[in-house]
Amino acid sequence: MRVLGIDFGTSNTVAILRMNDGRVKPLLFDGSPMLPSAIFLASDGRMLVGRDAERNARMDPARFEPNPKRRIDDTTIFLGDQEIPVSRAMAYVLEHVTAEARRQLGGPPEVVRMTHPARWGERRRNLLLEAAKFAGLPKPQLIPEPVGAASYFTSVLGTAVPVGRALAIYDFGGGTFDATVVRRTQTGFEVLSEEGLPDVGGLDFDHGIVEHLGKTYGVSHAQAWARLMNPTDDKDRRYRRTLYEDARDAKQTLSRASSADIHLPTMEVDAHLTREEFDGIARPLIERTIECMQRAIAGAKQQPKDLVGIFLVGGSSRIPMAASLIHTGLGVAPRTFEQPETVVVEGALAIGGAAAGNRPVSGPAAPGRPISGPPQRPPMQQQQRPPMQQQQRPPMQQPMAPRPQMPPAPRPIQQPMAPRPQMPPAPRPMPMQQQQPRAPRKKASQEPAVVVTIVIAAILVVGFIILLIAALV
Ligand SMILES: Nc1ncnc2c1ncn2[C@@H]1O[C@H](COP(=O)(O)OP(=O)(O)OP(=O)(O)O)[C@@H](O)[C@H]1O
Ligand SMILES: [Mg+2]
Repeated sequence: MRVLGIDFGTSNTVAILRMNDGRVKPLLFDGSPMLPSAIFLASDGRMLVGRDAERNARMDPARFEPNPKRRIDDTTIFLGDQEIPVSRAMAYVLEHVTAEARRQLGGPPEVVRMTHPARWGERRRNLLLEAAKFAGLPKPQLIPEPVGAASYFTSVLGTAVPVGRALAIYDFGGGTFDATVVRRTQTGFEVLSEEGLPDVGGLDFDHGIVEHLGKTYGVSHAQAWARLMNPTDDKDRRYRRTLYEDARDAKQTLSRASSADIHLPTMEVDAHLTREEFDGIARPLIERTIECMQRAIAGAKQQPKDLVGIFLVGGSSRIPMAASLIHTGLGVAPRTFEQPETVVVEGALAIGGAAAGNRPVSGPAAPGRPISGPPQRPPMQQQQRPPMQQQQRPPMQQPMAPRPQMPPAPRPIQQPMAPRPQMPPAPRPMPMQQQQPRAPRKKASQEPAVVVTIVIAAILVVGFIILLIAALV
């Protein structure tokens, strides 16, 4: 069963294939597992997706939508002068994914799994299904994002979560924050409680940085700043877009460095932003996520220390302050991942293992309702994995670890480690002397001596006879 898993995110879409033999393979877009969920309607009517859309956005930002998922509650969106239904806008991104999946598989996937925020109600989930239909995909199984993440810990990492124990997922993406507590059941996970902040995501830090700059440059360069904030022509719209992109890049740099520069177009200034300044911008938002997580844990009637762990997923969880405020606020050091953007879809794909293709896993994420199949790999098999394989995917890394362009090659899942085939013992080599008997060589070497002896003896006999004859004569 060839299964395609898709996490359609506010900023990025991640898609992974699971082949018939159980191997999993991320789809790469321009060499990256993350496809920006952006669309751009070109003037010739073509719809560009991902990095192509981002590149072209500068030509005409009015024809660009960077985050169709964030527009889910708008019935339609405008790209240039064209009005398109929001499900159609989302479908363009999914079409791009579908085309790449078909190219890799040589045909369509048989099963599709799509993840969605746990708090999405039926109307939004139906829009996602509609978008998938537009994109020519078979009807997807819908999986709440935290259930995908929880499954990742058991199925992919092999983290043992005993039945009855709970864990918390801190999912901080581009558009939203979700805090969920799930409990391990005999058959999978059930959502015990969920809380979310629909207005807190990576984009809000970008806005925060621009607002922060406005406090200084809105005063010192009032006119130019006003043009940037309220562009009236294409040129200024381009500048505004560049500013937001630079703010996002600076934010990401500040997860690793102590300062970053942001070029301010229209005023030819390089603004300097320090980590301390960014922390000041980020703190109120991150504190809200911690409170939200506290509510989710309390709602699940758990204590932070009783959880198997608090796991950070989503790109914004790379901000170091997120981990440190969880530690101080909840008294638990959270667990982080090298590639927190791909955890949800990898886990969703792993639910139920290869045999789960037909098992229904969708359904509303109502608290207490089991939504996933059993983890695919029984604990015994997890323990059999040799250390080398576990090192391929370091389960816990600090968020400040440099972000690799490509994820480590995903391990085949649902395939217990086959014992190394026992090789038959190699035949023992024959002793050297037996292989090359020396006896004939010895014999050959003795022949000249024998001949010489005979010749000498013959000479002596002949000489003796000659002497005897001479004496008689
Ligand atoms: N090193 C970093 N430091 C801070 N933020 C980062 C870093 N790397 C990525 N991000 C942010 O993570 C966000 C994207 O994360 P992700 O791809 O998980 O979101 P998404 O799945 O698209 O969104 P959502 O789940 O909310 O729909 C962006 O806002 C991006 O700027
Ligand atoms: Mg996400």
